[in-house]
Amino acid sequence: MTRRWIFGYGSLVWRPAFPYAQRRAAWIRGFTRRFWQGSPDHRGLPGAPGRVVTLVAEPDTVCWGAAYQIEAEREDDILDALDLRERGGYERHELDFHFQDGPGDGRARGLVYLATASNPNYLGPAPLHEIAQQVLRSRGPSGTNLEYVMRLAEALREMSAEDEHVFALERLLVGSP
Ligand code: SIN
Repeated sequence: MTRRWIFGYGSLVWRPAFPYAQRRAAWIRGFTRRFWQGSPDHRGLPGAPGRVVTLVAEPDTVCWGAAYQIEAEREDDILDALDLRERGGYERHELDFHFQDGPGDGRARGLVYLATASNPNYLGPAPLHEIAQQVLRSRGPSGTNLEYVMRLAEALREMSAEDEHVFALERLLVGSP
């Protein structure tokens, strides 16, 4: 039986919290990562949402993340748990992604949780300094919004990934020039 891949680009990069057979750095073409999704359930509260990432279609760009291959016999349990975890507006999509390196033919298709503009918690674009303010004041059952941003930035740096939106936000949050 073919083992399914899951591509993560937000909290799934640094806290998958599910068992996997292998993890590989990967990128997806035609999407960019943006802190445009509201989080009333993990990094904020109802009425005071934090800001977490979603993917926004943008031609000629790539978004780095982590691809996880999971065991077939664990798939149902893992996907049930992920559906619950991502229920604040994310839906399952199947997209192609490319591996940074390693064995295989260099690309695969896998499950991606994506929050589109039509979900009720979608916040959309805002100036980066306003996003930073919202991040600094938000916390929820999963922890502070600041932790979410810092751990994502750290994980992306570890895979030598470029992401100006994430790193510029991180710079604003740590107060460096
Ligand atoms: C993901 O990480 O791929 C989905 C968004 C999130 O949980 O932060």
